[in-house]
Amino acid sequence: MSSPLYLPSRRLFLASAAMTATMSPFWTVRGAYAEELTRTPAQTEGPFYPNKLPLDTDNDLLIINDNITPAVGDVTHLTGKVLDSKGNPLKNAVVEIWQCDGNGVYLHTADSDKKKDKQDKNFQGFGRFVTGSTGEYYFRTIKPVPYPGRTPHIHFKIKQGRKDLLTTQMYIKGHEGNPKDGIWKGVKDEKQRDAITVDFKKLKESKTGELGANFVIVLGVTPSE
Ligand SMILES: [Fe+2]
Repeated sequence: MSSPLYLPSRRLFLASAAMTATMSPFWTVRGAYAEELTRTPAQTEGPFYPNKLPLDTDNDLLIINDNITPAVGDVTHLTGKVLDSKGNPLKNAVVEIWQCDGNGVYLHTADSDKKKDKQDKNFQGFGRFVTGSTGEYYFRTIKPVPYPGRTPHIHFKIKQGRKDLLTTQMYIKGHEGNPKDGIWKGVKDEKQRDAITVDFKKLKESKTGELGANFVIVLGVTPSE
C-alpha cells in the first residue's frame, strides 16, 4: 500500500490481510484480458453526498479521529482496484465512499437533522483513499443496511485531479432488496449489474466474524496518467 496519509500502520495490517483474502489473482496481471473487462456503470449520486464533510475523512469509517467507541454494524474490510478502460491500474485516483450508518441515517443535515436521536454519532459516514501505483484502495466500514425505499448500498465517487471520473453505487450480492430497488434494477445490462453487486464474505482469519468485500472499478475513460 502506498497512501501513508490515509493509512496508519495499524490499518496497514488490516489492509494486507483483507486484500490477501479477497483480491482475485486475475487483477494482479497488469492490463491482462482487457477485452473481458466490464465497465462499472454510473449511478445517481443521490441526495446525501455529505453537505459538510466530517472532521475525519480517512479510510476507517468505524472510528472518528481518536475516539474509542467504534461505529455499530458488521465490520467490513472493503478492498478493490481502480482500473482504466484498458485494465491498467489507475494511480492518484481519489476514491470517496459514503453510506448511511447502522440505523439508516446519512451524514447530511437533510437526513440527520430529523433523526438526531437515531444517528450513530460514532460512524464517520464518509471516507477517502488515494490509490498508489497498483490502483488498490481499502476502507474499513460497516456492511450497508437498508433504509426506507432503498436496498443496502455504498456510494462511490472516483476523482483524479479536478476531474470527476465516475459516480456509482455498490450492492450486496444476493440481498433480497436488490430486485425491488429501482436504482439497482435501472442497470439493464446483467454483466454491468453484476459488476456493482459484490459478495460480502466472512474473513477466515477473523475470529469475530468480520467481513471482506471486493469491488473492482473499471472506468470507461483512459485518464491522463
Ligand atoms: Fe444512498
